[in-house]
Amino acid sequence: MISSARRTSGLSRGVRARERLIGKRADRVTRRRNRAPGAAEEPMTQTLKIEFVALAALPVQTRASPERTGGEAGHARTLVIFMGKDFAFGAATRRLIGGRGEALIKKAAAAVKFKGKALTALDLVAPAGLAAERLVVVGTGGGGEDQEGKLNKDAPPKPDDYANLGGFVMGKLGHGANATVAFDLPRPSKNPADAAAEFALGMRLRDYRFDQYKTKKNEDGEIEGRADIVIAVGEPAAVRRQTKGREAVAAGVLTARSLVNEPANVLHPEEFANRAAALKKLGVEVTVLDEAAMRELGMGALLGVGQGSVRGSRVAILRWRGAKSAKDSAKTKTKAKPIAFVGKGVCFDTGGISIKPAAGMEDMKGDMAGAACVVGLMLALAERKANVDAVGAIGLVENMPGPQAQRPGDIVKSMSGQTIEVINTDAEGRLVLADLLWYVQDKFKPRFIVDLATLTGAILVALGQEHAGLFTNDDELGERLIAAGRTTGEKLWRLPLGAAYDKMIDSKVADMKNTGGRHAGSITAAQFLLRFVNGTPWAHIDIAGTGMGSPASEINQSWGSGFGVRLLNQLIADHYEG
Ligand code: BES
Ligand code: MN
Ligand code: ZN
Repeated sequence: MISSARRTSGLSRGVRARERLIGKRADRVTRRRNRAPGAAEEPMTQTLKIEFVALAALPVQTRASPERTGGEAGHARTLVIFMGKDFAFGAATRRLIGGRGEALIKKAAAAVKFKGKALTALDLVAPAGLAAERLVVVGTGGGGEDQEGKLNKDAPPKPDDYANLGGFVMGKLGHGANATVAFDLPRPSKNPADAAAEFALGMRLRDYRFDQYKTKKNEDGEIEGRADIVIAVGEPAAVRRQTKGREAVAAGVLTARSLVNEPANVLHPEEFANRAAALKKLGVEVTVLDEAAMRELGMGALLGVGQGSVRGSRVAILRWRGAKSAKDSAKTKTKAKPIAFVGKGVCFDTGGISIKPAAGMEDMKGDMAGAACVVGLMLALAERKANVDAVGAIGLVENMPGPQAQRPGDIVKSMSGQTIEVINTDAEGRLVLADLLWYVQDKFKPRFIVDLATLTGAILVALGQEHAGLFTNDDELGERLIAAGRTTGEKLWRLPLGAAYDKMIDSKVADMKNTGGRHAGSITAAQFLLRFVNGTPWAHIDIAGTGMGSPASEINQSWGSGFGVRLLNQLIADHYEG
């Protein structure tokens, strides 16, 4: 994992030098002083432990166990079961709780009007006649949702429903939980192993916390233990096989979230590049371009954005050659076409000289959510050894005002040769992406490029936080992305592109300008990007509304959502592996 509080910032070099000079005691002092403000030395969060056992092996709950040992699955811990409408239980659940259990649930349900509606729960502490200390009855409702999101009793549940269910259960249990989940749904899925694996993924996503800067643990001053969950399923071996890939995806999402949550004094461009470089240990090839290399390549648009910052700008290129053909091409130097992902990595966006208002500006530490997603995706692909050849490219800059900063009216030359009049220094993301898109299509000749960027406030006006904006020059790629969005719940909504919008960014003095006026702000930003893909099949996903500050959900309680990792992983799994 690359997101640990123990990772040190750029200051660490000096610390190490001093350690060598003055030895141990000083070492402790300097380390404390040089840590990021408030940063704890050890991350408090430990990831939860999930094991799978056979439903048939769970002891019947009505027979109180003689020795109530906490570790033993099924006894002396919290038991989670599922119930549909009209007291519908699965057969294995019936066996577990017996007639006494059912009678108890009916009585309690009547008292609080619990009807088994989806994502509601009945919580019974010390249930009479049952071995468990706590019984949580989770409602699964009467049916799934159809494609329009309406409840339909005949519609099959989607994978994302099971993830949400897992998230809901984890939320009920709490971080330090010690629980057994009898994963025996009254309306079983067609693919129960997949459903259970999605359920476990939902639990992992829900359990994530970004608390490494909290030095006060909880109210009692205690560290909450990690959750210990046993999920009882029909076929544990099959579920374990399905879980491997999901664990990789969870690691990718959590990595992306932590990158987005990190403050910009810690996660500046160089540090971000270091964290991307940490993926080398998973077998990802990582190249970092410094400013000299970028100047050599002619990346004037990207460099112009970073020139007001004391932090150096960086580009990091990651490649996961998991496809057999890609490995061969590395040996023989023949050209195989990878697929490519590009991320906006503005580590902090003050707006530059066109400075943003103070209110809410702290949120601009998340203006690198696109780059975070690309890193999380590459991590997921490498950890699950995906059979794909994928490039991830991230443009890392800090957009600051200052004597060196670029001015409104400046004209910069992009790597493509096209010139850009900078009308507003706050429209910086497209300048970064312009050079990155050009570089990626030129160097890798990819089958397609998908870029992710917290690009415009206007996408929030148009779509809120429910959908990310999708723009594409390739209908098939667009449809595949939208479908992956439906599967994962990371939903996309396509917006138009067209010549009339393109005209809005023509400049009087250069080839184009970096803003298109008040109207259609997200579209003119996308049109700008389209001028740098050189005809490559391309999709742009504007995640300004979904990548950060999203409302809490069943599977996400974090400010940084990690949006896009599951979406793009699904796209790859559905169409580009093998
Ligand atoms: N990073 C912002 C977009 C943004 C806004 C992301 C709110 C997340 C939440 C981007 O760089 C920006 O400032 N865009 C400007 C463009 C304008 C100057 C044409 C905007 O949206 O106002
Ligand atoms: Mn901006
Ligand atoms: Zn920005």
